[in-house]
Amino acid sequence: SESKLQLVQRHIRAFPDFPQQGILFRDICPILKDPAALTAVIDLFEDHVRKNHQQLDLIVGLDARGFLFGPLLAQRLGLGFVLVRKKGKLPGTTVSVAYDLEYGKAEVEIQEDAVAPGQKVLLIDDLLATGGTLHAACELMEKLQAQIAGCLVVIELQELKGADKLKPHRVFSLLRY
Ligand code: PRP
Ligand code: HPA
Repeated sequence: SESKLQLVQRHIRAFPDFPQQGILFRDICPILKDPAALTAVIDLFEDHVRKNHQQLDLIVGLDARGFLFGPLLAQRLGLGFVLVRKKGKLPGTTVSVAYDLEYGKAEVEIQEDAVAPGQKVLLIDDLLATGGTLHAACELMEKLQAQIAGCLVVIELQELKGADKLKPHRVFSLLRY
C-alpha cells in the first residue's frame, strides 16, 4: 500500500517558469486540498520531532506557507506556535532581519516578546530553496537568544544548497528535489 511519503509526493505539482523564467515552482496547494495528505505531512513531522527532539518550547512558522503546517504540528505536540512575518505586519515592538530570496529581496520580523531568552524552538516552512528565508529567521531567533533545535520543511530544493547555508542548524525535509 501507499506510504505516507508517497501520498504527500503525489500532492505536489511543479510549474515551470513561475514566478519568473527559469524557476521550477513546487506547489503544495494540493496537499492542503486533501485532508489525508495534510494529515500525512503532520504525522511525518510529528514522528520526526518525537524521535529527534526533546524539551521543545515553541514551533516558529514562516510567513506565509509555514503558517499552513506549523500550527497543526504545534497542536499535535502540545506546543505553542509563533509567527515570523514579512516586515510591517506585526504590532508592538519587533525585531527584523533583511535577506535575499531565490527571486527578489525581503525582510522578516517577529514580536520581541514572542520567544523568551533560552527557549528551545523548531522552525518550520513549506520549502527550503536558497535558505535565505530560514537563515534570516534563525538570525531573528538568535537576536531573541532562543535555542534553535532545527528546521523542518516539506520540500528541499537540493541544488540550491539551502541546508549548507543553515549550518550548523539541522534541516529535516520530507521530500528532496
Ligand atoms: C518561499 C517559500 C519559503 C522561501 C524559500 O516563500 O515559502 O518561505 O520562499 O526560499 P529561500 O530558501 O530561497 O529563502 P516566499 O518568499 O515566496 O513567500 P510566501 O510564503 O509569502 O509566498
Ligand atoms: N516553490 C515554492 N516556493 C518557492 C520555490 C519553489 O520552487 N522557490 C522559492 N520559493
